Amino acid sequence: MISYARQPQEEQTEASLPPAEEHIAPAPRVSVQAFCETVETAAAVQSAGEDRRLGKAHLKIQMGGMAAAVEAYRSAPTPNVIVLESDGRNDLLGGLDHLATVCDAGTRVVVIGRINDVMLYRELVRRGVSDYVLAPVGAIDVVRSICNLFSAPEAKAVGRIIAVVGAKGGVGASTISHNVAWAIARDLAMDAVVADLDLAFGTAGLDYNQDPPQGIADAVFSPDRVDTAFIDRLLSKCTDHLSLLAAPATLDRVYDFGVDAFDAVFDTLRSTMPCIVLDVPHQWSGWTKRALIGADDILIVAAPDLANLRNTKNLFDLLKAARPNDRPPLYCLNQVGVPKRPEIAAAEFAKAIESQPVVSIPFEPQIFGSAANNGQMIAEISANHKSIEMFLQIAQRLTGRSETKKQKSSLLSPLIEKLRGK
Ligand SMILES: Nc1ncnc2c1ncn2[C@@H]1O[C@H](COP(=O)(O)OP(=O)(O)O)[C@@H](O)[C@H]1O
Ligand SMILES: [Mg+2]
Repeated sequence: MISYARQPQEEQTEASLPPAEEHIAPAPRVSVQAFCETVETAAAVQSAGEDRRLGKAHLKIQMGGMAAAVEAYRSAPTPNVIVLESDGRNDLLGGLDHLATVCDAGTRVVVIGRINDVMLYRELVRRGVSDYVLAPVGAIDVVRSICNLFSAPEAKAVGRIIAVVGAKGGVGASTISHNVAWAIARDLAMDAVVADLDLAFGTAGLDYNQDPPQGIADAVFSPDRVDTAFIDRLLSKCTDHLSLLAAPATLDRVYDFGVDAFDAVFDTLRSTMPCIVLDVPHQWSGWTKRALIGADDILIVAAPDLANLRNTKNLFDLLKAARPNDRPPLYCLNQVGVPKRPEIAAAEFAKAIESQPVVSIPFEPQIFGSAANNGQMIAEISANHKSIEMFLQIAQRLTGRSETKKQKSSLLSPLIEKLRGK
């Protein structure tokens, strides 16, 4: 494999990132071989291979385009996916016909080409080409094309993972993740699950007033048994659209997990749940790092002081570098305005992080304290509290959904339903 190192300093422009509402599900363990014609395309494919969504795929890149592909598969078996660049000078269709004679059944072909022409497109479809991507391509275009080969159209809306983590312990990351998940379920009417990853001390069970006999520990400690039915039995229902995968919050075991301890749990949740909110404890280990880097979106919760600022900056830098084809993480400030406490102003914070906080949630010990002790959400205690609007704002930014999907009934709706039915 040849290496086309991406310029490390190279910043992705907003335009080359997928829009917030687009969700690209990670590809399964598949083999991909790319035959490129140009160094630019080879570089894009190379950085696509480093994207988190292709983390499980095996990617090999060669130069030489169609001719090299035909040559390579004369004797060797074909992989799950062949990516072919065509610079338009050679006979693409003739080459594909030739390739078809050596291609194993089930191999999918993606063509990267320069010609934008319906006739060509039809001919490609006729030959069973799975996707045609117009050059020049960015890494995300390659990621999207390969991942979409393996996600069923109806699964598109399924499986967005949102990781919430505190820049320090005790800043309210869990509280915010629980209230945001609640807003996602209630106001955006999305089926959501909160996975409490703080196995020893997690508070999701307390906050939702649930005490289920089983939870996430049953899954992590028996990864071989994990499938949809198994995970379903571990979920406890909090509201119509919200479930909880609770932490045991007991100390009889220790929780020294390996890097990929949660992979099976996340993959299974992703296959059935539209929205998975991870309440990630404030610690830095192989598996917490992996959970953050592998998430579709990240929210960092920070209190307005110097240690939080430094840690938020470090998290931002690391996560942006590890996720070059993703939106940068989001962050919010919490516990703002503790009486007599010197604080770093939001503007100051934003300047250092080079990003604005989604919201700044005030310090309100009375209401947050009651919520925590009663096992209730803020909205259940005080329906009009100003933080509720903030939780919804975070929910909207994280899910990319801007509209609340509440049932609006009007006099005309039965009629409209009828017309729609026709
Ligand atoms: N905006 C706030 N105002 C007052 N108290 C808060 C606020 N946000 C969180 N808290 C309280 O701070 C404590 C720590 O919150 P928690 O969510 O457990 O933090 P973390 O998960 O970051 O360790 C809890 O008692 C919680 O009720
Ligand atoms: Mg916590």
